[in-house]
Amino acid sequence: MKSPTKDQSLRNLQAGGELCGRVKVPGDKSISHRALLFGAIAEGKTKIEGLLPAEDPLSTAECLRSMGVRISPIKKGEIIEVDGVGLRGLKEPKDILNCGNSGTTMRLIIGLLAGQEDNHFILTGDKSLRSRPMKRVGQPLKMMGAKISGRCGGDFAPLSIIGKKLRGALIGTPVASAQIKSAILLAALYAEGSTTVIEPARSRDHSERMLKAFGANLEVGGEMGRHITISPGKDLKGQSIIVPGDISSAAFWLVAGSIIPGSELIIENVGLNPTRTGILDVLKRMEANIKLINMRTVAGEPVGDIKVLYNEHLKPFEIDGEIMPRLVDEVPILSVAACFCNGISKIKGASELRVKETDRLAVMARQLQKMGAKVDEYQDGLTIYGGNDLQGCELDSEDDHRIAMSLAIASIMANSNSTLRRSDAAAISYPEFWSDLKRLRQNK
Ligand code: S3P
Repeated sequence: MKSPTKDQSLRNLQAGGELCGRVKVPGDKSISHRALLFGAIAEGKTKIEGLLPAEDPLSTAECLRSMGVRISPIKKGEIIEVDGVGLRGLKEPKDILNCGNSGTTMRLIIGLLAGQEDNHFILTGDKSLRSRPMKRVGQPLKMMGAKISGRCGGDFAPLSIIGKKLRGALIGTPVASAQIKSAILLAALYAEGSTTVIEPARSRDHSERMLKAFGANLEVGGEMGRHITISPGKDLKGQSIIVPGDISSAAFWLVAGSIIPGSELIIENVGLNPTRTGILDVLKRMEANIKLINMRTVAGEPVGDIKVLYNEHLKPFEIDGEIMPRLVDEVPILSVAACFCNGISKIKGASELRVKETDRLAVMARQLQKMGAKVDEYQDGLTIYGGNDLQGCELDSEDDHRIAMSLAIASIMANSNSTLRRSDAAAISYPEFWSDLKRLRQNK
C-alpha cells in the first residue's frame, strides 16, 4: 500500500461553496463496454460516438485488441471505430488478458471466450478485481459446457478459460446482476440451441437492447422482462452507436446540487434507461428539487437533461433489495445524501455492495464516520443519522472511483477542509471529475 506521503494523488478538498452551472457527464460506462464488445464480434465496422474515454473501457478495448480486433485510439470527443472480426474471428491472445479494475470487462469477456473452441485464455486484473467473485459467472456457464478454472475453486482471477463447444441451457441466476446475465447472453451466441436466462429481479438491460440492435435473435419476456432468450445462428452486424451520458456519474452532481446550499446545476445528456433511474426515484422521495428537461431518445435509449436546485428540507429515505439493481452504483453517494437529510435513512438489501471495487458498505461507513457522521453498518446495509455536522479530515478513496467522488461531495459540506488519498481512482469512470468540480465551483 502507498504511504500517505508518497501518494501522488493526495488532493486537498476545500470545504464550503456552492456548485452552479452546466455539466455534461461522460459516456455511460456499461454501454461503452458493450459497444466495444459487440462491435468486436460483429461483421463490419461499428462506429461509437460518446464512448467513455476512461480506464475501464480502455481495459475492454485492450483485451479485444490483444485478440486481433482493430479499434481506433480512444480519445475524448472522437468517434471510435471498431473493425468487427465476426463471431468466429477472435484470435487466441499471445499473453494474459489484463482487465485492470473492471469487473464488467472480466465478467463479460468470460462469457465471450467460453465458446471460442480450442483456444486458451488467461484473464487477470488488479488487486481489487482479483478478489472479486467470478464463480457467479463461471458456474452458470459450466451448465453450458464451459471450462473455466481459477484460484479458490474458480472464484478468483487469474482465471483460465479453454474454449469449448457450448450447448444452450435454461439458467436461473442467483443475483440480479447485469454482468452475469450479459456473460451468459454472450456465451449463448456461440451455443448449440437456445439459452434462456431468468433473473431474480431485472438488472440493467443495455445488453438486451444493444444485442437486438446488432441483429441477434433475442427475446425478452416473463414478468418484468426477467426472462431473456437468445437463439444462435444469426451474425451480428456492425452498427452506429451514440452513447448517452452515465447516470451513475450524474448522480454525484444530482446529490451535490440537492445538498449544497445555493447550488443550481443543469446536468446534460443523461441516460435515463428505466433500469438505471432508481436514484431519481429516491431523490423524488427525498423531495429533492429535480426536474427532467429536454427528454429525447438517442440510439434506442431514453436521454434527458436534469435541473437540480438546493433544497434545505430533504426527507430521509429507506431503500431495500427491490430497488437495489436500479441504483446499485449510487449507494455511496446516496449515503452522503443521507447525512444531510432531516432524519434517519436506511439502506437495506445491499450486500452486493460488499463485492464491488471495494466493500463499499464498510468503506463508506469508515470514511463518513471519520468525518463525524453517525452511521451504523449491517451485513446488508447502513443506517445513517442525518443532520449531524461533518468535520474535515484525512479521507481515503481506498482506490474506489465511486468512493473518491462521493467523499469529494461530502467534503464540500464539512466544517473544515479535508484531504483525499488516492483521489485519482475517479479516472476509472470519470476522468474529468476534478476539473468539472473546479469549474462548477467557480461559476457563482
Ligand atoms: C454493470 C453492472 C453492475 C454495476 C457495474 C456495471 C454492467 O454490476 O455495478 O458497475 O455494466 O453490467 P452487477 O451487474 O454485478 O450488479
